[in-house]
Amino acid sequence: MTDPDTPSQFDPKAYRSALGGFGTGVALVAAHDAEGRAHGLIINSLTSVSLHPPIMLWCLANSSNAFGVFTSCEAFSLNILRSDDHDVAHRFSRRGDRIIPAEQVCTMETGAPVLTAAVASLDCRMRLRQPMGDHEVIYGDVITYRADPGVDALGFFRGRFVTLTSGDPES
Ligand SMILES: Cc1cc2nc3c(=O)[nH]c(=O)nc-3n(C[C@H](O)[C@H](O)[C@H](O)COP(=O)(O)O)c2cc1C
Repeated sequence: MTDPDTPSQFDPKAYRSALGGFGTGVALVAAHDAEGRAHGLIINSLTSVSLHPPIMLWCLANSSNAFGVFTSCEAFSLNILRSDDHDVAHRFSRRGDRIIPAEQVCTMETGAPVLTAAVASLDCRMRLRQPMGDHEVIYGDVITYRADPGVDALGFFRGRFVTLTSGDPES
């Protein structure tokens, strides 16, 4: 017998809409595939787990076409997008080819592809993967990072991309 109040009976659309009230930043996770191509994927599941040592996590849908790339890589970068990165956000959240053009990436210490321009880029070595429900939780050790604290960030709130700003620079 099924209980209509159990979470498995949540209306998926209403549940997603409820979660949409949690505004986040937007990041591009990037990694090389076995042929050395740089793949990118838009995520907002980014979380800082630990500062000492610096450990980040993000969650990858089991159904993602990119599952193989991001679960077999030894390193990846997490790039927090700028407010003017709408094109990047749309391009790398669509199905199909999500290869990052060579001129938009560089490498830091791990060798993972890193966006040349971002609010911040974290260069991570794969630490641990944990299957969890319909996602894989991916943990990375932050080996090095760089940041541009002066620029506004791209946000995601109630299903829309928005600008995250620290406000009037005069105040
Ligand atoms: C704002 C935003 C945040 C997203 N966050 C995640 C995420 O944390 N994890 C994930 O696997 N996919 C996330 N996605 C979905 C992927 O970007 C992409 O749309 C999806 O993987 C497409 O399916 P495919 O990988 O099968 O082509 C997000 C999409 C958007 C627009």
